[in-house]
This record gives sequence, structure tokens and C-alpha cells, in this order.
Amino acid sequence: MDPLKVRVWRGGAEGSFQHFVVPRHASQTVLDVVTYIQRVLDPTLAYRFACRVGMCGSCAMTVNGAARWTCRTHVDKVYQKESLELAPLRNLPVVRDLVTDMREFFDKWARARGSFQGTKTRADDFEKISPGSEKRKQVDAAIECIGCGVCYSSCDVVAANPDYLGPAALNRAWTLVKDERDVEGVERLRAVAGDAGCHSCHTHMSCTERCPKQLSPTAGIAGLKREVSLALLTSAL
Ligand code: SF4
Ligand code: SF4
Ligand code: FES
Repeated sequence: MDPLKVRVWRGGAEGSFQHFVVPRHASQTVLDVVTYIQRVLDPTLAYRFACRVGMCGSCAMTVNGAARWTCRTHVDKVYQKESLELAPLRNLPVVRDLVTDMREFFDKWARARGSFQGTKTRADDFEKISPGSEKRKQVDAAIECIGCGVCYSSCDVVAANPDYLGPAALNRAWTLVKDERDVEGVERLRAVAGDAGCHSCHTHMSCTERCPKQLSPTAGIAGLKREVSLALLTSAL
């Protein structure tokens, strides 16, 4: 196989692309390519990964213009016109090279009240939630998020309005709004109702199209819009 021609972002926000040539082999992932560059060609390249099996989400980067988990992306799938372009995730500050600063992404989870708030203690029995209950099914459909930032990086509303909470934080809030054990209720709805909240979503679906876990933040955000509207109509907000 011919070697791969790879363009890799170097530096911070004002950096530029550097060209590398990497040997190609069967079943090669994009993360394999980045690792080869760092181990063999340039040990100063900064990138992030942990599990290599699609569980941690830390290897997310922009690959030929689209956010992806690089450990689960085969080169064969994305090698277009004889080139592979690797850049850090969009919509987040660049620390260096392929590494972004995820702080504002997780700060927004906190702003959306993304922590469970219950009332039980260790002395209490487990809460019994029927697997067949409507709320439980809505939670199940959205709960598997691993916080990789792919959806956030793909959202044009975040790009236009950096204050927007974004798909992942709102998806997390949705799972808690539907959690029968959680008691934040109106406070959480208030947290996701403002100008930076669910009503800013334009339903472009990029988050849902790109989520590697096949979640639909768009559906959760639509649910939040309904819950907020209902709370306003009943004067609960
Ligand atoms: S919703 Fe999907 S794309 Fe977004 S952070 Fe969670 S797992 Fe990643
Ligand atoms: S559906 Fe909403 S949150 Fe998802 S990418 Fe589009 S604007 Fe962003
Ligand atoms: S390295 Fe963990 S998801 Fe890719």
C-alpha cells in the first residue's frame, strides 16, 4: 500500500498544519496514525487517548473536517483524495496540537445542573423503578453518553454562541429531568431555560448525526423544550 499523507495541526489557536508521511497497513485506525507520528516521527506531538476501544471518549479529534473518535475510525473509511487532515475538536480552546481544553464543556454540565440530586441515604432501601416505565425508557435512550465532546464540537449554535450549554450538557439534564429519584425539578428546568439553554437549539441534528454512541441529544433537547413550556404554562417556573 502507498504511504499515507497526513496533515496535522500543530500549535495553539494560531498554529498551522504540518505534513507527515506514515506507512499504511490493514485495519489501521486514525489513532494508530497519530501514535506512529508521535512515537516515530515527532515526539513533541501532543494528543490525548486512554482506552483505545471506544469507552473513554478522550481520543476525539476533527478528522477531515468531522469530529470523530479516532480509535474507532479506520483510515480506509476517511482517507479522501489521498489526504488525511487531523485537527483538534472545534468549539473548544486548543491547548496544543490535537489537545483541547475540555473545562468549559464540563463547566456547562454543572451549569445545566448535570449532577444527580436525591434524598435517600445509605440506610434507605433502593428506589424501585420499573424498566418498563415511560420515564425509565426515556432515560435509557439518552444515558450512555461518555462526555467525549463530539456533539459539542459539531454544533453550529455553540460556534455562534459560545455561551450555549450545548447538546451534551442538555442531554445530561434531560436524563435527570426524567429520573424519578431526582429532586432538582424546577431548579434544573430553570437552569436549561435561559438564552443559553434548550430554546437556542435550532434542531440542525449535527449532534445526533455525529454522536458515536448513536444517542440523540436533539430528541432530549426537544423534550426539555416541552417540559420548560409546560412549566411556564402551569406557572411552575
Ligand atoms: S452525546 Fe454522544 S457525542 Fe455527545 S458527548 Fe455524549 S457520547 Fe459524545
Ligand atoms: S440539534 Fe441543537 S444541539 Fe444538536 S447540533 Fe443542532 S443546534 Fe446543536
Ligand atoms: S481512546 Fe478511548 S474512546 Fe478512543
